[in-house]
Amino acid sequence: MKKFSLEWMADKEKSTPWCADYLKTLGRQVEGLEDLINNETCIVFFEDQVGVISPVGVISLVEQGNDEFDFVFCYDPEYVASDNPAISVTLPKQNQISRTHNQIHPYFDNLCSEGWLSEAQNKSISQSLHIENVQTRYRILALFSRSNHGAVSLTYAKIDEAIDPLPNHLQRIALQPRSTLTGMWPKGLGVTLRDTIIPSGYFERSEWIIKYPMQTNGYGTLDTDGLQYEYLGNLAMRAYLPHDEFPECRFFKMGIGEELVPVLAIKRFDRLGTEGKRHFEELNQVFGEPESRKYDGAGYEDVAKIVAELVCEDARKRIFQRFTAQLLCGITDSHLKNFGLFHDGDNKFSLTPNYDLNPNYFSGLEGDAEIALQVKGRNLPKINELKLKNLVIVGEQMGLTKVAIYDTIITLRNNGMLLEETLLNDENPLVRGSIKSNYIDHLRKWNSSMISASPANEKYMNSAFLKDSSVLQYISKNSDIERR
Ligand SMILES: Nc1ncnc2c1ncn2[C@@H]1O[C@H](COP(=O)(O)OP(=O)(O)OP(=O)(O)O)[C@@H](O)[C@H]1O
Ligand SMILES: [Mg+2]
Repeated sequence: MKKFSLEWMADKEKSTPWCADYLKTLGRQVEGLEDLINNETCIVFFEDQVGVISPVGVISLVEQGNDEFDFVFCYDPEYVASDNPAISVTLPKQNQISRTHNQIHPYFDNLCSEGWLSEAQNKSISQSLHIENVQTRYRILALFSRSNHGAVSLTYAKIDEAIDPLPNHLQRIALQPRSTLTGMWPKGLGVTLRDTIIPSGYFERSEWIIKYPMQTNGYGTLDTDGLQYEYLGNLAMRAYLPHDEFPECRFFKMGIGEELVPVLAIKRFDRLGTEGKRHFEELNQVFGEPESRKYDGAGYEDVAKIVAELVCEDARKRIFQRFTAQLLCGITDSHLKNFGLFHDGDNKFSLTPNYDLNPNYFSGLEGDAEIALQVKGRNLPKINELKLKNLVIVGEQMGLTKVAIYDTIITLRNNGMLLEETLLNDENPLVRGSIKSNYIDHLRKWNSSMISASPANEKYMNSAFLKDSSVLQYISKNSDIERR
């Protein structure tokens, strides 16, 4: 199989003629493909854990007239025969062309940037169309998909299509590495330089996601407040789940143009230093839903079911622990793009670490008090109305045993005892005292209503759990439940 290095990819004198030849050869090799290859075709690449890059196949936009179009995706037969994994649960390796009509295949649709980044990228594309236009999304993907989430990237047949430099310095540095990382928040990529982090350049391997402050977040709150809350959200989640996995997170000032600006850098878990990539899909991709369905493509019970099926039965409990801890931390926006699965080999999957730990309750007025996904077709109460009973019912609907639900609540209750101390001991000077104390007040309130040993909660725990023989047996075996 053809194998390349990143340096070779970046050398356009070598890679551009190779790409043209590749398209011709693959077109002839796969029946029916030649007519589908055109100026809008992209080559799809996969980079493995040691940085070896192989062509996966092609994706192409085929106009059908009357504003109708098809997207076609086809694996390279050599990739199908290789040891590399299928790029998505929804795209098993096969020697057959797959087509979607008037929409990009959901796996690729979810690789497209959103919010601030997609607006900046759209602005920079010559003769850009309206952002919601699906062909515009495809063009953004084609031109900017060099460093997406996971190990897949795209290279456009029209690789040198003009990209206008933007006047805004922040947009320029965010666009430089040509990444279509998703999510609404302004973001770019970074690399480590000695003991600091700087924005990464074109075709440079990135190790960090960098979240920049917003001018305003649309609700009139101050621009860096969201980053301060996200930094605190990371600390709080770690306190609740000390044995779970979290990427390193740094909140510091970075030089942008003439200014020093607070940024939040989050270590990429899909990058192995600067060596290679670790492939993962967001659950929205695993469910085969387009980006627009991240809030309603599935419910939390489906999330639990799919991870139990694809990872292992115990992953169901880990998802419930994360879900509950997130609510206790004011993180209400856990939609289907905020959970991910690593591809560890053919049909082998594991949960990614936690990510997007923004206590977005604080980034809006009433709206962000709502919990992102439904459970069994029903909305959950808003965060300030959530009670222990609601969490227990969700746990049951996620298919957990009584013991697993009981253990989660007691563990979070115990771990929550160190929460305030953790936040108060952190001395990051970029976090304002008023933000920290506001956050601690809310953490106290949510802890008290959802899991604390208050008389009302204890009464409920007694009736829900302490008559159940499996729970009683479990308690007698674990009289001293450790922090986990
Ligand atoms: N540490 C990480 N390592 C690798 N990929 C990550 C990491 N954190 C986030 N991602 C990827 O980047 C995407 C965007 O990140 P994130 O969800 O934090 O952004 P956001 O703008 O806050 O999102 P949202 O719109 O959900 O608020 C995620 O959906 C995920 O695919
Ligand atoms: Mg997100």
